[in-house]
Amino acid sequence: MQPVASLVKISIPSYLSNLPIPDSFGGWFRLGFKDWLALVPPTALAAGVGYTVYRAYCPKARPSCSGKLNQVIQLSNPKVVDTIDVEDISGKAAFCRCWKSKNWPYCDGSHAAHNKETGDNVGPVIVKKAK
Ligand code: FES
Repeated sequence: MQPVASLVKISIPSYLSNLPIPDSFGGWFRLGFKDWLALVPPTALAAGVGYTVYRAYCPKARPSCSGKLNQVIQLSNPKVVDTIDVEDISGKAAFCRCWKSKNWPYCDGSHAAHNKETGDNVGPVIVKKAK
C-alpha cells in the first residue's frame, strides 16, 4: 500500500500544484506554449473520465440521451400514424404509449420492463366500447 499512499499523498498533489494554472482570467492569455503543453495530459484525463462516466450513465439507447422516444417502430417513416376504426374494437383494446411494443400500435406489456429499467411509469391507453 505504500506506493499507492505515496502516489495519492505526495506525487499527485505535487504534480497538480506545479500545473501552470493562472490566478486570474487574464492569466490564461499570458500562458506560453510549454504551459499549455503541460495542461494537455490532465485535461485529456479529465475529458476521458467525464466521457466514460457519461457513457456509463447515459448510453445512446436511452431516450433521454438520443432525444428519441421511438427506437424501433417504423423508423423509415417520417411520422408514425395509425388509424383504427372504433367498430373494429371488440370490447376493449390497449394501445401502446411507451413505444416499446412489438405489436404496435397495441400494448404487448413491454412497458413493464421499460418501467422497471428506467423508473418510468408509462402504460397503455385503453379504449373501451360503450355499452
Ligand atoms: S407496451 Fe407500450 S404501453 Fe404497453
